[in-house]
Amino acid sequence: MRRILVTSALPYANGPLHLGHLLEAIQTDIWVRYQRLSGHEAYYFCAEDTHGTPIMLKAQAEGLTPEALIERTASEHKADYQGFFISHDNFHSTHSPENKHRTETIFKALDAAGHIKRRAVRQAYDEKAGMFLPDRYVKGTCPVCKTIDQYGDSCESCGSTYSPSELLNPVSVVTGTTPVERESEHLFFSLTSFEGMLRDWTRSGALQEGVANKLDEWFKAGLKDWDISRESPYFGFEIPGAPGKYFYVWLDAPIGYIASFEHYALGHGLSLSDWWDENSPTELHHFIGKDILYFHTLFWPAVLTGAHLRRPTGVHVHGFLTVNGQKMSKSRGTFILARDYLQHLPAEALRYYYAAKLGSGVDDLDLSLDDFVARVNSDLVGKVVNIASRCAGFIAKSGGVLAGALADPALYAEFLKLQDPLRLHYEQRDYSSAMREIMLLADKANQYIDAHKPWNLAKDPQKAADVIAVCSQGLNLFRVLMAYLKPVLPDTATRAEAFLGAPLKHWDELQTPLLNTHLAPYEPLFMRLDPVVVRQLVASPAVASPATATAPSPAVNAAAAKKSPPAAAEPPAEITVEDIAKLDLRVARIVSAEFVEGADKLLRLTVSTGEAQRTVFAGIRAAYDPASLIDRHVVLVANLKPRQMKFGLSEGMILAAGPGGTDVFLVTPDPGAQAGMRVK
Ligand code: 2FM
Ligand code: ZN
Repeated sequence: MRRILVTSALPYANGPLHLGHLLEAIQTDIWVRYQRLSGHEAYYFCAEDTHGTPIMLKAQAEGLTPEALIERTASEHKADYQGFFISHDNFHSTHSPENKHRTETIFKALDAAGHIKRRAVRQAYDEKAGMFLPDRYVKGTCPVCKTIDQYGDSCESCGSTYSPSELLNPVSVVTGTTPVERESEHLFFSLTSFEGMLRDWTRSGALQEGVANKLDEWFKAGLKDWDISRESPYFGFEIPGAPGKYFYVWLDAPIGYIASFEHYALGHGLSLSDWWDENSPTELHHFIGKDILYFHTLFWPAVLTGAHLRRPTGVHVHGFLTVNGQKMSKSRGTFILARDYLQHLPAEALRYYYAAKLGSGVDDLDLSLDDFVARVNSDLVGKVVNIASRCAGFIAKSGGVLAGALADPALYAEFLKLQDPLRLHYEQRDYSSAMREIMLLADKANQYIDAHKPWNLAKDPQKAADVIAVCSQGLNLFRVLMAYLKPVLPDTATRAEAFLGAPLKHWDELQTPLLNTHLAPYEPLFMRLDPVVVRQLVASPAVASPATATAPSPAVNAAAAKKSPPAAAEPPAEITVEDIAKLDLRVARIVSAEFVEGADKLLRLTVSTGEAQRTVFAGIRAAYDPASLIDRHVVLVANLKPRQMKFGLSEGMILAAGPGGTDVFLVTPDPGAQAGMRVK
């Protein structure tokens, strides 16, 4: 059994999580869950990244203490991570006693070993704000190409890099005044002393090929010592023995990985030295984006080495997220926040889509919304879940117990054989290959069912045992597929296990098929994504606010869905009597009717069919006053598959006539019809 400690980058406590953050969290979480399912001892730690100038200034601007800002942001971050099923063992904070102590201890060890140097630095100073300005807080004209409004460290137009003092017409971003230059003593970590170690470590297998090559470029250009101190005012930890000076946020941030571990270790019997001493036999894996490579592959291993701590086993780098082929942008509405996504769509759809597109390299990943809908609906709904929904009903009708033997053990064995290649793909973070292989098996399972046609067998009472045999085989194949997908779809897998009556903790359990066991009632495991809802996600930047919501998806209400009058529409397709027989139309009584906040065309109706009540969203708001609808009898399409809409689950459709808008007329049975009566 391996012992594995895993982290993803700590989110800054000054803003909400977006789908880019989730790309990394999901990539990491899949890996951790895969390790746990393989029987390894794997921990996933993260924390809030709390220090530095941006957080200090943001808190000031909001009239909050930094601590209050951090607390608020951390609770939002935690809720978002939970919403996406990110299974942190601990989510701590860099503004914590553990981190303060660990940072001081590491600093003192580095200082005692002669790795800290002190020297004077001239830096931009804002006299009005009374603070030194980080490079990005000075703006001005590029000294090279003369483009205005450039940051103090580099020009976005010509790409030159320089120091803020070289900018023409420099201005402080904080107060708008012209900064002056001031000198102060800074502390430097001597990165240069670690070059030999870093060159070896770079080629130790800890890094992807492309990343190691990038490091070679940096070695060639020459390493520089690293400025780890900042002057007051600064939100962070004061440096021992250097009053008024603070550790630069990037020194204590990765130490936050250790602090999160320590905070957890106390109550869970883990020992710091066992996991962090320089000869630790355990593994340490960091998942990061390519923008913070320098910190994790040069500074961090050097700091750890200087303090006699272990180096990372792996630093796994991913690319950026683009949406519809472009950089996420607030003005295009493609800067999608985690919480906006969660309000509209199931978390696991995104988990699956990311998995289906993530390879082990550093390429950017594009969230193409049309492809997202197509992929999730075709793979998860059309292939995987379809297997269970095709088989479940037949077993339920014949007693709810699986067959006593597999009908096709060879096929089952073929499914088990994928375990080894899958392990390799998951281990190497090549999730797209893993998903591709799993979907090929899902196709096979569906082909098996197609070939044996349980719906035909079920017509012949003599073949009752065959129906059970075929569907039991199908459900056993489904169980294997769900287990393989469990790192990606933990929630759906758990619900599938509950249906199968067989919770699964380890892939080894698949060696024993489910035979003679009872099934729980089948509930739909995954709903189709509605392209209208997905498109709304980027319809406007303010998609979070229900006030901007637009029309409901079609099919909510037969009449209101039609945009054009019926005369202009194509004649409806011819249907057969069998088609009509599929419709379960019922008389229903409207129990309550209310406006749906943010939806200008919808009413939320609760309708009763006698024994049960359900919710239906109907596009009749312009035509009806909700109060006038109470106790009215209407006709309900009762066997319509429930649809997840932006505002909730719609569990049916009520019939109405007319082109829509104010011209909608509910179809009402004659007086005397009772709720629940079948309409024929
Ligand atoms: O780039 C970022 O968002 C940083 N907050 C990541 C820190 S990762 C670790 F080093 F703490
Ligand atoms: Zn320039």
